[in-house]
Amino acid sequence: PVNVLADRFGRVATDLRVSLTDRCNLRCTYCMPEEGLAWLPKQDQLTDDEVVRLIRIGVERLGIKDVRFTGGEPLLRRGLVGIIQASARLSPRPRLMLTTNGIGLERLAEPLRDAGLDRVNVSLDTLDPERFKALTRRDRHADVLRGLRAAAEAGLTPVKINAVLMRGINDDEAPAMLRFALEHGYQLRFIEQMPLDAQHQWDRHQMVTADEILADLAPFDLMPDSVSRGTAPAETWLVPGYVDAAGEPARVGVIGSVTRPFCGDCDRTRLTADGQVRDCLFATKESDLRDLMRGGATDDELATAWQVAMRGKRAGHGIDDPSFLQPARPMSAIGG
Ligand code: GTP
Ligand code: 5AD
Ligand code: SF4
Repeated sequence: PVNVLADRFGRVATDLRVSLTDRCNLRCTYCMPEEGLAWLPKQDQLTDDEVVRLIRIGVERLGIKDVRFTGGEPLLRRGLVGIIQASARLSPRPRLMLTTNGIGLERLAEPLRDAGLDRVNVSLDTLDPERFKALTRRDRHADVLRGLRAAAEAGLTPVKINAVLMRGINDDEAPAMLRFALEHGYQLRFIEQMPLDAQHQWDRHQMVTADEILADLAPFDLMPDSVSRGTAPAETWLVPGYVDAAGEPARVGVIGSVTRPFCGDCDRTRLTADGQVRDCLFATKESDLRDLMRGGATDDELATAWQVAMRGKRAGHGIDDPSFLQPARPMSAIGG
């Protein structure tokens, strides 16, 4: 690349997370209200060609190596397969990943793999269909399980499961979820809940912490991972006695965003469905590439604007600061 996305603290973003829609077909209670949110109007969203153009600029000019598609629920984006196909043709070819709730993956896993998708992470917070219904307000537990299976069969591996534990709701499930993941060869990661819900009801005391999760997993005699963590949000452990679907030692992860922040090693830049660059999940400011692009900006000008956007990135999320303010956009419109 001609240039890189560096910030004032010496971090370089090589991992791009692209939100393809702010809509979702679930209504997880910790994410959005029953009635949904005020979705972005169509004309405000990037077209498929616009998305691909920005990814191309990231890859060709700014050193982006990994592209992860998120939402809302990215499988709801009509042009998804085409966007992945076009991204896979870029040079140097980026790794292409997807974070989904798994609904529709049963049908899409193969077409997505054929288009060039490398891996998927699937969100699943409970093994119990009734709890799933209460938690997501939709009766789709079986669809998610079928989606997981299809992803593994299509070779979108390692298939990872993201689980958020909530006190008094599903915090008794950590060992059972790990057994389920080990049995099927999925890599489970537990995520600490972050203050990014649309309802602004996050409460530190309701959050199940990394320490608590690890205490629950004590019976598995987890061992420190042999592979270094690098810039990944998940801290991982080896689970003695198990291998994953590819025959690799089985792992379990904890994403301790709040109690074990990893901001110092952050390598991420984000693009929202309406074409705004966010330098952080918790950014309170965004930079508009969409209007710049629609106003006729060249690739060069867009690349420069993206670089400028990243220079404002703060050292960390600041959740522990008394002055912390939750960003205006919720998780579902940023893409996790
Ligand atoms: P891989 O490790 O490559 O599989 O992906 P990932 O874990 O980065 O991606 P995924 O979309 O599965 O993210 C899982 C969760 O990690 C997200 O839902 C967030 O909760 C958290 N996460 C991802 N990126 C960041 C980040 O930059 N900051 C913080 N605080 N959390 C993040
Ligand atoms: N904190 C942490 N994780 C969250 N997710 C959604 N909202 C939050 C939150 N406030 C999770 C979803 C999914 C992943 C993309 O992010 O459950 O697993
Ligand atoms: Fe990076 Fe912000 Fe995430 Fe911290 S919270 S790891 S700075 S994106």
